[in-house]
Amino acid sequence: MKDFIAISDFSSDEIQDLLDLAVKLKKQYFKKGNKSIFKGKVLGMIFQKPSLRTRVSFDMAMRHCGGDALYLSPAEIGLGKRESIADVARVLSGYVQALMARTFDHAHVVELAKWADVPVVNGLSDYNHPCQGMADALTIVEKFGKKSKGLNVSYVGDANNVAVSLMHVCAQLGWNFIIANPEGYDMDPKAVEIGQKLAKKSKSKITFLRDPHEAVKKAHVIYTDTWTSMGQEEETAKREKAFPPYQVNAGLVAEADKDVIVMHCLPAHRSQELTDDVADGKHSVIFPQAHNRLHAQKAILARLFGAG
Ligand code: CP
Ligand code: NVA
Repeated sequence: MKDFIAISDFSSDEIQDLLDLAVKLKKQYFKKGNKSIFKGKVLGMIFQKPSLRTRVSFDMAMRHCGGDALYLSPAEIGLGKRESIADVARVLSGYVQALMARTFDHAHVVELAKWADVPVVNGLSDYNHPCQGMADALTIVEKFGKKSKGLNVSYVGDANNVAVSLMHVCAQLGWNFIIANPEGYDMDPKAVEIGQKLAKKSKSKITFLRDPHEAVKKAHVIYTDTWTSMGQEEETAKREKAFPPYQVNAGLVAEADKDVIVMHCLPAHRSQELTDDVADGKHSVIFPQAHNRLHAQKAILARLFGAG
């Protein structure tokens, strides 16, 4: 495992192994703290977009395991502008032991991985968000345990980067993925093709719908995300007209399985894609889900470093 760019780059056994390791490292952390398996290692974190969870959870993942992290802001790096991505990758490879990058264009994180001698982790691109996908899977496994095979994971809203990684992790782990989104906001066809192949292997199903009510009918998980992702700000007004029927509110949640959990990668736009009563209600797991970023990423880093 040289890089972590997409969930679909791995076998379902490798994804399961990462989840098992995340569970182990989480237990260890709460029992007596993590062992110093990243001692002497520094993670360089390149951000082209803002972040709370990704930045802090990666930084703390490194520190908990005896390593360190370095934040590199868009202004400092100027990835592909001040300097070519290939040159940035080769320079940083001599200073740090791994890189994490949050980019706009997915090709940029792929390019970084191509030229870097050290492992590169995708911390979100316009195409996908694989670290989020792993934390989401960890949260679902914690809730449903061994009975998780055949679960219905229903995503309602924009078929964005978060939805792509969620679809792929569901397909890897044998969970049915159902998505309802408005016309004109469909999922990347390449991601769909990859998802269908993975689902066939795990004997799960991917379903594309327009009707959010139909999508949540048998849902064990309802997932939503912002209607306007970072980089799409100019489309905000247009999107705010198209997406209101896709709001996850108490009415919609009541149509799902009685033990349904509600997930959101955060940041949430309360009163848009998710109402306050649902976000803070009994079905919501949004904060444990956010906290699981830390544990899922420790597992990813451990496998990339060949540590622990
Ligand atoms: N969910 C997530 O990636 O959050 P940040 O954008 O705050 O990192
Ligand atoms: N889809 C959102 C996720 C933020 C974590 C975005 O890309 O802005």
